[in-house]
Amino acid sequence: MELTPAEKGMLDGKNSKATKKGMEILVALGEMFGAKKLIDVKSVQIAGVSYHNLEEAGLEFLEKMAEDGKVQVLTTLNPAGMDLEEWQKLGISEDFAKNQLKVIDAFSKMGVKTTCTCTPYLIGNRPAQGDHIAWSESSAVCFANSVLGAYTNREGGPSAIASALTGKTPEFGMHLDENRQAQVEVKVNANIESFTDWGALGHAIGSKVGKKIPLITGISKDNADEDKLKIFSASIATYAGIGLYHVEGVTPNETTTPSESIEISEEDIENSKKFLNDAETIDLVAVGCPHCSIEEMKRIAELLEGKKVNREFWICVSREVANQAKEQGFVDKIEASGAKIARDTCMAVAPLKGRFTGLATNSAKAVFYGRGKNNFKTTFCELDECVAKAVE
Ligand code: F3S
Repeated sequence: MELTPAEKGMLDGKNSKATKKGMEILVALGEMFGAKKLIDVKSVQIAGVSYHNLEEAGLEFLEKMAEDGKVQVLTTLNPAGMDLEEWQKLGISEDFAKNQLKVIDAFSKMGVKTTCTCTPYLIGNRPAQGDHIAWSESSAVCFANSVLGAYTNREGGPSAIASALTGKTPEFGMHLDENRQAQVEVKVNANIESFTDWGALGHAIGSKVGKKIPLITGISKDNADEDKLKIFSASIATYAGIGLYHVEGVTPNETTTPSESIEISEEDIENSKKFLNDAETIDLVAVGCPHCSIEEMKRIAELLEGKKVNREFWICVSREVANQAKEQGFVDKIEASGAKIARDTCMAVAPLKGRFTGLATNSAKAVFYGRGKNNFKTTFCELDECVAKAVE
């Protein structure tokens, strides 16, 4: 891979030990994937923030990088394992909290904006069409590539940190137009309107076409607002394992029409919904996967006003959107009901195993992680129904 003199300097350790390490990671990655050069990135989003996933070895790596490493571009974090301020209310142990705060301190020392969210595009880390970025979180990667028209591979934690410290990423994969063309047309012959329709569509496409980039046709633009595409990006990234999709007439990237095509029927959507539902009882309701937008916070506040919850109810959201919601009076209404605003974290990265058995959620991605990481049985239903289950 060809390096500029400045990049060679970083690799030779002229900047800092952490930058040298970062450059070593990027060069190794670039060579593995046949990149010809490094390119500049406009922003970075780092996953692998929860101490639950990092454990002691991950924390040590971060503290080492923080000794002399400084980020070169706007860098934000994925959700942590707890609300960074009010962790007690979520039942987090003191020991876990102590270690989680050490993780955040290490990122902060490097100059990372320690806002912890999988929807950075809602709080100021929002790339423009055509921007090259290095993001980690699968739903955010899928949303940035598909809905915003940015260019990013799905970075692992270490490669995202390497990009943050150097401002670079190797040019391969999703950074090249030739790899962003649709590979299969998905003709939707079903009414895709509600959030659970979109979540089930992600699961249905994943089941039928796997990792191919789809050009999805037959969807009305009126049913494809940003919140729905947010939840769809999370679902299709989870069940198809892809970082880019096209929706005809909706998403901004240009693509050729592929010769292969498949159909998604009403029955496919119903089957996916059945698959996502297996709980008989519910002891946790959680929404905000990906983190809630201000419109979702408004809706939840309207639904909870004057009511009391009878089950543990988590509303996962970034601290910034929660602050906006507070200013608009939504947080007070939500908290008066006994529901918990889970800032900086989510139901998948917080240490919840063993505390609950049945999860109700409006997110197909939360179903996947609830089952896989926490052994939950799941009920997959609309936001309004989730709130109704919390108060019933
Ligand atoms: Fe975000 Fe956690 Fe869901 S990181 S996309 S809320 S699993």
